[in-house]
Amino acid sequence: MENVKKEITRSFRMEMLGTGMYRALAAQYRKRSDLSLRFLEFAEQEAMHGRLFRELYRKNYGGAIGGGKFWLAVGRIAALSMRLLPLRAKLKRIGAVEAMAVRQIEDALADGGDSAFHRVIRKILPDEKAHAALYGELFGTSA
Ligand SMILES: [Fe+2]
Ligand SMILES: [Fe+2]
Repeated sequence: MENVKKEITRSFRMEMLGTGMYRALAAQYRKRSDLSLRFLEFAEQEAMHGRLFRELYRKNYGGAIGGGKFWLAVGRIAALSMRLLPLRAKLKRIGAVEAMAVRQIEDALADGGDSAFHRVIRKILPDEKAHAALYGELFGTSA
């Protein structure tokens, strides 16, 4: 079960990174309000996923996963570091990471299990698919 514990911690961190990154993107693109709102929606979804993993960890192992603020900042820095890239290149890169998350979730669900961990990742899967699809939505092809 050590693996699941590590996986929950890793997932929590990635969700916090995503939250920080999408929040920063929403701020960067505030003049394009449709896109900015989309980033804000994604940020809220990642924050909700983070809460699910944090809660799952607390229930299974007691205590809180640390480092939430650190990983939010890492996400903000990731968005800042890409700020000179054209939107298309930026979204292609992000879409590839989200698509990888979708594959990882689908692989983990493929064992047919129904643990609390399975239930959380099953719940977040549609959101991650929507995140992975944004590039295609805007540029008409998949990332
Ligand atoms: Fe997420
Ligand atoms: Fe995502």
